[in-house]
Amino acid sequence: MFHLSLVNLFVLVNSEVCTKTDPYGRCSTNSACGCFPMAGAQNAGVCAFLWKFCSQLIPCESSQDCSQPDHICVHHHRCNHRPVCYPLLMANEAICPPISPITSTTTTQILETTTTSIKLNNWEQNGQTVAGGNQKGDNLNQLYAAQGIFIDQNNDLFVADTQNNRIMKWKPNATEGTIVAGGNETGKGIAKLNRPTDIIVVSQDNSLIIADWGNWQVVQWFNQTYQEVLIQNIICHSVKIDKYGFLYASDLNNHEVRRWKMGDVKGKKGTVVAGGNGIGSDSKHLNKPTFIFVDDEQSVYVSDWGNHRVMKWGKDARYGILVAGGYGKGSRLSQLDSPSGLFVDHAGHTYIADYNNHRVIRWSQGKREGELIVGGNGIGNQSNQLNIASGVTFDVEGNLYVTDYFNHRVQKFGLISQ
Ligand SMILES: *[C@@H]1O[C@H](CO)[C@@H](O)[C@H](O)[C@H]1NC(C)=O
Ligand SMILES: *[C@@H]1O[C@H](CO)[C@@H](O)[C@H](O)[C@H]1NC(C)=O
Ligand SMILES: *[C@@H]1O[C@H](CO)[C@@H](O)[C@H](O)[C@H]1NC(C)=O
Ligand SMILES: *[C@@H]1O[C@H](CO)[C@@H](O)[C@H](O)[C@H]1NC(C)=O
Repeated sequence: MFHLSLVNLFVLVNSEVCTKTDPYGRCSTNSACGCFPMAGAQNAGVCAFLWKFCSQLIPCESSQDCSQPDHICVHHHRCNHRPVCYPLLMANEAICPPISPITSTTTTQILETTTTSIKLNNWEQNGQTVAGGNQKGDNLNQLYAAQGIFIDQNNDLFVADTQNNRIMKWKPNATEGTIVAGGNETGKGIAKLNRPTDIIVVSQDNSLIIADWGNWQVVQWFNQTYQEVLIQNIICHSVKIDKYGFLYASDLNNHEVRRWKMGDVKGKKGTVVAGGNGIGSDSKHLNKPTFIFVDDEQSVYVSDWGNHRVMKWGKDARYGILVAGGYGKGSRLSQLDSPSGLFVDHAGHTYIADYNNHRVIRWSQGKREGELIVGGNGIGNQSNQLNIASGVTFDVEGNLYVTDYFNHRVQKFGLISQ
């Protein structure tokens, strides 16, 4: 038995209530959905899409309510179980079809887990351009060889516009972006970026942390008049922050990834969390790490560019585990060619911007080959094609975004509801 407020009941029309002894357990034929415990309700949850984007979710108000319309206050296992406002759109029957007939608002039926084959998610094969796409150039509606991308809790897209030496922000449906860091002058001064390759937004203060590749530094950008250099003498391709407030940076030259406690970065060497044993191709080594991803267990995933593989280094691990590629450079489904942007979902699927194969490929744990997700239709500028895949991320609704490097655009591939 449990209690739901009228507000919750109202909000749950067209959504599924689930009850599960195991919170976050399977509640849908879509394996990407799970049962989120509802704040303030005992043994009741809402079956919702499980993407973990703590940085994009707003904490609930003290009354366990959400002031935003169409949001419900749930506990999210990926966000320290603290109550966060979750978009009801993600708890839709269309996205998370129930395993058994929809359990109405008062049932205490325990859902059975199914052993039938898990249906994988699908994304539209024709992308929609959400940034750039107007040839290369430095106008506000253009990009020039962009790489890392980041989506914040407002669904604003931040793009490391590498050859324009700037960071752009594109609001949803915008026809042009705004410059939020740098400009078109290359330079060494603190206010100048030199071929930035990756970007994250710090949700606490909306500052940007930028892999300022060509200046050999990582900078924190508070606004156009105030910036700080966090890390010097590092050819850094990618930066990430984990949920415990650690900053991670890949170091291309030293074949390693290091991490720092946020707020205690400047002047500190950091701790090696992947590689750090020089160049090589065995499990202790990396060869030019580019993009990284950090999961909630603080495992670090590394695009091991020169080895055409992706490695996972668990917390405190002394060697990495192969998660993708590792069968030489090539275009078969078992191979990668210069892996670039990375994203790992809650189920441990790794999405890889497979740079020279012009595709995004997904590897599941323990598999010997990946599955093609989008692209892979040869080089070109059609909507189902990419010309060098450099960055990859998702929004809170599970739509896929890919930086299409030589088409100077970012493509959005909509999640197809099942
Ligand atoms: C963007 O455009 C689509 C299609 O026209 C529309 O459904 C959506 O609401 C728009 N989003 C925003 C944030 O304006
Ligand atoms: C880029 O440089 C051109 C030429 O120097 C200048 O006119 C333009 O304002 C600059 N754009 C930005 C965004 O700084
Ligand atoms: C820029 O950021 C700094 C640090 O947060 C702040 O002290 C300053 O007021 C900001 N300046 C502007 C113009 O917003
Ligand atoms: C796409 O490619 C064709 C053929 O190379 C070219 O003519 C066209 O201008 C390109 N379109 C864009 C938007 O870049």
